[in-house]
Amino acid sequence: MLRPVIVVLMLVSFACGENPAIQVTLTNKGLQYGKHVGAGWIQERLDLITLPDISGTILRYIHYTLSGVNITKCDFPEPSVEFYQDIAGLNTSSSGLSVAVTGRWTTHAGLIHDGGSFDMAIFNMDVTSVVKLGKDADGHLSVTSAHCEARVGDVDVRFQGGASWMFKPFVEYLKGRIKDKIEASICPGVEKSIVNLEYHLQAMNVSFDLGENFTFDLPLTGMPVIDASSLNLGLKGEFYNIKGHTEPPFEAQPFTVPEQPGYMLSVGLSEFTLNSASYVLYKADLLQTVITDSMIPPYLPMHLNTSWMGPYIPQLPKMFPGLLMSLQVYARKVPMFSFQPGVVKLGFEGAVKAFAIQPNGTETPLFNLNVDSTHSGKVWIAGGRLKGSVTLDNLTVTLGSSEVGTFQTDTLEHSMKAGMMLVLAKLNVEMGKGVGLPGTKHAQLVNTVLGMEEGFIAISSDAVLL
Ligand SMILES: *[C@@H]1O[C@H](CO)[C@@H](O)[C@H](O)[C@H]1NC(C)=O
Ligand SMILES: *[C@@H]1O[C@H](CO)[C@@H](O)[C@H](O)[C@H]1NC(C)=O
Ligand SMILES: *[C@@H]1O[C@H](CO)[C@@H](O)[C@H](O)[C@H]1NC(C)=O
Ligand SMILES: *[C@@H]1O[C@H](CO)[C@@H](O)[C@H](O)[C@H]1NC(C)=O
Ligand SMILES: *[C@@H]1O[C@H](CO)[C@@H](O)[C@H](O)[C@H]1NC(C)=O
Ligand SMILES: *[C@@H]1O[C@H](CO)[C@@H](O)[C@H](O)[C@H]1NC(C)=O
Ligand SMILES: *[C@@H]1O[C@H](CO)[C@@H](O)[C@H](O)[C@H]1NC(C)=O
Repeated sequence: MLRPVIVVLMLVSFACGENPAIQVTLTNKGLQYGKHVGAGWIQERLDLITLPDISGTILRYIHYTLSGVNITKCDFPEPSVEFYQDIAGLNTSSSGLSVAVTGRWTTHAGLIHDGGSFDMAIFNMDVTSVVKLGKDADGHLSVTSAHCEARVGDVDVRFQGGASWMFKPFVEYLKGRIKDKIEASICPGVEKSIVNLEYHLQAMNVSFDLGENFTFDLPLTGMPVIDASSLNLGLKGEFYNIKGHTEPPFEAQPFTVPEQPGYMLSVGLSEFTLNSASYVLYKADLLQTVITDSMIPPYLPMHLNTSWMGPYIPQLPKMFPGLLMSLQVYARKVPMFSFQPGVVKLGFEGAVKAFAIQPNGTETPLFNLNVDSTHSGKVWIAGGRLKGSVTLDNLTVTLGSSEVGTFQTDTLEHSMKAGMMLVLAKLNVEMGKGVGLPGTKHAQLVNTVLGMEEGFIAISSDAVLL
């Protein structure tokens, strides 16, 4: 009875795939900016292109070759690019391209060789290329040519040198041949560069190692979604321990990043990504630390010794007079972040194990406290920097176990609250200075805005390619 249910559930979960924790949306504004940069890039490199040789026969026995064809001048009107919803792809179209080229001609008729140069103009070329975007089995973005069409409007050619007069009667015929040959070579050229692009996409990493123990997984979770005005990519966005891909006991929830057509791109970052980092650190026992007296910052009015603890635990200085103490602080559960409109909440269920440090170095266990706190944080962008602040919402201290007899935790809780607030005040000064937005040598984010929503952070930005 149960088995078919499980099978059905598995099928459903396979069919739906997993929810992406990171969503990237490229808007039409971003697409047009990308195209503009791309067109400039192509224009700069057109001079470097060599066109294919053209050869054939005239008058049955004269073999001719047109070779070393170089572009001397190029009129490259900016192409148009649009999202193509029907096949989830892009439609790129250039019209009115014209190029002037120069090259050499040679003829062979038996043993007689001749040669010279030629100038040629190719007018009004139209090229349309439709590419389909997809996803391969490893979660790479893939691109394939779905349709290509090229048309050459007209060709003009002039021959110089040698017995170039010989070509005169055949110029019309040659023009037709050249036009056909160029027309036939454009789409294979376009398709070759798409295959080349696909090769680069396949070679891209979809996971990034962080140190020797952790990895951040960013494959696509589903097919790219394209509508008339945007391209949306869903990415996994999950942290793992390299030594074992254990899934956390919570899942990425679906979310929808609001459309921001005024920005080039939007990124939605689910609380799941942060919580998967939290889970991985917790599982690796990294959410723990030992605090000793020498680590207490001077602005905190406290000392980690048994006499300082006297007001809170009266019996302690009597049982262990004049001893320094150490505190082992650790998370009892995975700390969980929850993103809510305008605010991020963090719940931390921690514990403190206190020890007295004997003169011979032995640490004698004293007591265990459960310390549960909730925090609210805000993040925002100002002056091109990411800034933040954290406040303490609630802190409760309860006694877990004790080797020194029972004691009241109320005043201790009160002091810990005050201490925590002092620490957060210092932290907020640093967070108020902020950190610069991520950028690379080649690209920089500008006009970036950030909003906290239910379950995710939405970041919208323009970019400048340098
Ligand atoms: C691609 O775009 C061009 C220019 O906007 C348009 O003429 C052509 O019909 C489009 N092709 C497809 C297949 O939509
Ligand atoms: C075209 O460029 C190639 C490579 O730079 C050069 O070898 C060739 O001579 C050029 N052809 C003409 C006709 O200038
Ligand atoms: C891709 O990942 C591999 C293995 O983690 C690493 O060696 C390589 O440098 C990465 N490549 C890039 C371009 O980041
Ligand atoms: C990675 O994990 C191993 C054992 O799990 C640990 O010994 C090592 O210190 C860790 N490395 C880092 C850089 O944390
Ligand atoms: C213990 O703390 C008190 C303050 O309560 C301080 O005056 C004293 O010097 C400290 N003793 C040691 C050994 O650090
Ligand atoms: C260290 O001192 C404590 C208290 O005086 C004692 O109970 C313990 O046995 C000593 N440990 C060692 C290893 O000497
Ligand atoms: C603080 O936590 C305690 C215990 O969990 C709870 O009873 C109390 O309502 C909380 N206070 C606030 C302001 O959230």
